[in-house]
Amino acid sequence: MSKTRIKYICSNCGHESLRWLGRCPSCESWDSFTEELIEERKSGKKKFSGETHITPLNSIVEEHEERIKTNINEFDRVLGGGLMPGSVVLIGGDPGIGKSTLVMQAASKISENVLYVTGEESVNQINLRAKRLKVRSETISVMTETDLDMILNAIEKHAPNVVIVDSIQTTYKSNFENAPGTITQIRECTSELMQLAKKKHCAIIIVGHVTKEGIIAGPKVLEHIVDTVLQFEGERSHSYRILRAQKNRFGSTNELGIFEMLEDGLHEVKNPSEIFLSEREKEISGSVVTSSMEGTRPILLEVQALVTPSAYGNPQRVATGFDYRRLSILLAVLEKRANLRLSAQNVFLNMAGGLRIEEPAVDLAVCCAIASNFGDKLARNDTVVIGEVGLGGEVRSVGNIDKRIQEAEKLGFKKVIIPSNNFKSIKNTTAIKIIPVENLLTAIKEILD
Ligand SMILES: Nc1ncnc2c1ncn2[C@@H]1O[C@H](COP(=O)(O)OP(=O)(O)OP(=O)(O)O)[C@@H](O)[C@H]1O
Ligand SMILES: [Mg+2]
Repeated sequence: MSKTRIKYICSNCGHESLRWLGRCPSCESWDSFTEELIEERKSGKKKFSGETHITPLNSIVEEHEERIKTNINEFDRVLGGGLMPGSVVLIGGDPGIGKSTLVMQAASKISENVLYVTGEESVNQINLRAKRLKVRSETISVMTETDLDMILNAIEKHAPNVVIVDSIQTTYKSNFENAPGTITQIRECTSELMQLAKKKHCAIIIVGHVTKEGIIAGPKVLEHIVDTVLQFEGERSHSYRILRAQKNRFGSTNELGIFEMLEDGLHEVKNPSEIFLSEREKEISGSVVTSSMEGTRPILLEVQALVTPSAYGNPQRVATGFDYRRLSILLAVLEKRANLRLSAQNVFLNMAGGLRIEEPAVDLAVCCAIASNFGDKLARNDTVVIGEVGLGGEVRSVGNIDKRIQEAEKLGFKKVIIPSNNFKSIKNTTAIKIIPVENLLTAIKEILD
């Protein structure tokens, strides 16, 4: 026996409550509770029949898992080497960002059987997109369906190696009274797909809509269920798109995939440093090039700083793509150790190209950019600056120094300023001039020379 009751669920984190709340006590988001019908089964004492299986860890036979390659390098790298059979990948992103385009292009390059299930577009629309993307593949089958049971049946019957469900918000299970897109529906549909993926040993890619407010369905509800969560980001007015792993049970979450959206679809960006430096104005003060590791790949980018006198008592400090608190610390270090009187100055900092950098290896470049603009002196534009800055103004060593230097050399830079502790460990002797520095002051002198 089961009865239905009304519950209120936070669309952001899935917190349940018996009454409506203005603010979620769990994730603290406002106005995120939606009304949902919940089926409750009467709890009676259950008698277990049959045996339960436990397996000693040592006795599990190791299976060598072959990943299914999407053959789009940027996509495979973010996945950790390809799709894992039996896993579920969720791709989230703003409306119109290019999710369907990405999965369609991946489907066309996968050499195994793919079932593309869509609840959003007609077969004709899919065909038009496939034509625009110049997709010609004999291994893709298309199905327009929103009823989950029909989708599960089709997977059971046709046993595809990869299934794409576009999107989870339109999929529903008919024995729940809730409308498609509600938390209960999304959660149930995803967990059933997950079970089937494990049973049939196929990889399932789920497309999910994410609104900025997280109103339709907060991604957090799904994040716990699925194996991998990828975020497809970018400004719709710009053609560049970034694919980022937020959670990955089978790979690193530091990897980035960079694409350019053109008329005939998404193109991989093989050398992202070139893009991030392409709009660089070389003859202005406050611009310094640095290197940040995004996963296993070094990316060169421009750090821009603007320092202006503050007319009021309280100077502004604004950082885009960089941690605000870290900026405050670096300003204090510059003031104390490099004698720059910045306390009455507004400081604006920008990581050009829309990247968000969390690595401390860009500290030194941030300091050099601020010093350059404050003194209105051009920083050398043929030099890359790498290093973490400590509170004593000392320049600390960073990881992957060889890779970073190679990337700088590849892009035609003549010099690279690095921490002196890293200098000893450099393996390759390269043509680029390496300047080891011990402290902030020496680095500023070198770059403003
Ligand atoms: N003819 C075209 N030329 C260039 N770009 C196009 C063209 N048609 C579509 N696009 C790009 O593709 C994007 C839409 O792609 P797609 O349908 O894959 O997005 P989506 O994330 O699946 O959207 P939705 O949220 O509606 O499902 C558009 O925003 C646009 O950038
Ligand atoms: Mg779509």
